[in-house]
Amino acid sequence: MSKTKTSKTVHLTIDGQNVEAPKGAMILDVTPGLGVEIPSLCAHPGLEPFGACRLCVVEIQKPGWDDWYKQLVTSCLFQVEEGLKVWTNSDEVRQNRKVVLDLLMARVPASDVIRDLGNQYGVTKTSYAEVDTEDTCIMCDICVRACHAIGRDAIASMSRGPDKYVDVPDKDACIGCLVCANLCPTNAIPFTANDNGKRRIWGKEFDLVTDERSGEVLGTTEYIEHVRKRAEDKGLLCPEDMKHESARVKRYGYAQKLSHVADVEEPIEEVK
Ligand code: SF4
Ligand code: FES
Repeated sequence: MSKTKTSKTVHLTIDGQNVEAPKGAMILDVTPGLGVEIPSLCAHPGLEPFGACRLCVVEIQKPGWDDWYKQLVTSCLFQVEEGLKVWTNSDEVRQNRKVVLDLLMARVPASDVIRDLGNQYGVTKTSYAEVDTEDTCIMCDICVRACHAIGRDAIASMSRGPDKYVDVPDKDACIGCLVCANLCPTNAIPFTANDNGKRRIWGKEFDLVTDERSGEVLGTTEYIEHVRKRAEDKGLLCPEDMKHESARVKRYGYAQKLSHVADVEEPIEEVK
């Protein structure tokens, strides 16, 4: 009986460049290295896509479609396909991003990140009434997803619709690791990393633990306990085991990237 060989890659064009990409990858994931710029505030390579900011929109055309017909899709959520044509900076794409940025500038007028992005697209002033707030949260959900990825679930989206906000309803669950604040695209989470051996975030104060030999800050007491407990739960009792665990977790990539961004020494979560 003959076996059908299925290809693991697909071929597409992005702004006219021929690209070979792994099947199942999202368009946004295959753009690094191509010299194209897609604003993507709610995406992070270490987290599942969420599609909240709508800035990563691109235009696509599938094989067989009429030449004049194209569609706008969010590139962080749209999988590559054989023969797909993608445009990341067409007039239609730029116009769509302008509309989103106009809205975001009204929603978080204090955000430098949004203002700079708006300027890049020629939106220097919002055409909507500005919300009277210093908060720069755009509800991208990165902090919620990152906290879940490291195994804490301390951060949650509260309320609904325009009143939605993020908070830490159970302060005990927060371990002061700073993953949320470091990944926040609009720097909306205030914190003090190290103030005389103390760290403050989400209205909570933590003691920092310092390596006796190097003087380097290792993390908060709660963070170190979290890592120790997870290692113990997995039966990892000695440093050698921890090294093997690190290598294993690296294969999953997700938390490794998270812990790297957060300046955390050990990868601490296997997401899948
Ligand atoms: S605080 Fe930052 S990371 Fe969290 S939802 Fe708001 S913008 Fe996103
Ligand atoms: S990065 Fe795709 S919607 Fe935000």
